[in-house]
Amino acid sequence: MSENHLNLIDLNDYPVSFWNEIIELGHKIRCAPQDYASKLSGKIMATLFYEPSTRTQMSFQTAMLRLGGSIIGFDNPSTSSVAKGESLKDTTKIVSSYADVLVIRHPIAGAAKAAALTADCPVINAGDGGHLHPTQTLTDLLTLREEKGRLDNLTIGLCGDLKNGRTVHSLVKAMSCYKNNKFVFISTESLKLPSYIKDVLAVNGSEYKEVSNLEDAIGELDVLYMTRIQRERFASEQDYQRQKDVYVLDSFKMLKAKRDMIVMHPLPRVDEITNEVDKDPRAMYFKQAQYGMYVRMALILTIITNATHRSKLLFGKEYKVSCPNSKCITNCEHYLPHSFVGVGDNLICEFCDERTLNS
Ligand code: NCD
Repeated sequence: MSENHLNLIDLNDYPVSFWNEIIELGHKIRCAPQDYASKLSGKIMATLFYEPSTRTQMSFQTAMLRLGGSIIGFDNPSTSSVAKGESLKDTTKIVSSYADVLVIRHPIAGAAKAAALTADCPVINAGDGGHLHPTQTLTDLLTLREEKGRLDNLTIGLCGDLKNGRTVHSLVKAMSCYKNNKFVFISTESLKLPSYIKDVLAVNGSEYKEVSNLEDAIGELDVLYMTRIQRERFASEQDYQRQKDVYVLDSFKMLKAKRDMIVMHPLPRVDEITNEVDKDPRAMYFKQAQYGMYVRMALILTIITNATHRSKLLFGKEYKVSCPNSKCITNCEHYLPHSFVGVGDNLICEFCDERTLNS
């Protein structure tokens, strides 16, 4: 077990002060990138991408190259031994013995945590199914710091696929840790935010409301976070077709927004923001993608060089029950412990956060 590495699986495994350190470092790197150009020379980062990616993968790779390090990895598991049936455990074990840090994206929730349990080097979660995406959140936090000048006292609207959008889940969990942030969740009934995220809001005492109309809500927002309907996470194409195109941000709706509201989007965009909005100075999504590179430089540098923070991976107990989520890594990689944290009558899976009754 590699519980002593400085992994990044879920931002909430660390105190807010740690996130702030990364964001501040991201800001410094952005201002003087040349000062960091050889900080990681001789170090190697492996990227294991089991799911498609443009920005996350390339910004990680560029970040490492801009720090003077080198990169290995795959972005198409069908050309690696994964196609021969190799388990996540074995792939992770081997690649982590070649590299100084491992960045993993996987379609199954909890996969990054599973990888970190086996890895011989730190692991960074670059998205695990519809669950979490902590480095997109660091990107979003740096964007807010640079463009709004603060991470608190913001009214943040999140619109689109709030059920399956891992960027939404990670961002809401993080922003609810800063003072006086309010949330407006804009979605259809069937794509509402999962209840485990609402539980986090309740614990942190964050105010929120759930609405279905973007046009009515836009005027009160400081930030509008648009998201794509996550086609690949739907049970059928028919279900997806029913949800797509419900929310489209266009110049007409932007007329109702505050003059200093910013529009963010983790990208890729499909058709939820019209191209004409790109010209609006409040459209921040392309700049946001560039902030992602700087913040990932800060993260890789911190993880590889800073040994003061330690991350523990499992806190709960092993139970005989199985996680009810078919898209949880414990139902795919059977050697993993059925590890749950007990909360009242419920058990919460430590890999995917799904609840089950403790019977
Ligand atoms: C997001 C993702 O992969 O979750 N993209 C990204 O990393 N920038 C959002 C999405 O795919 O819709």
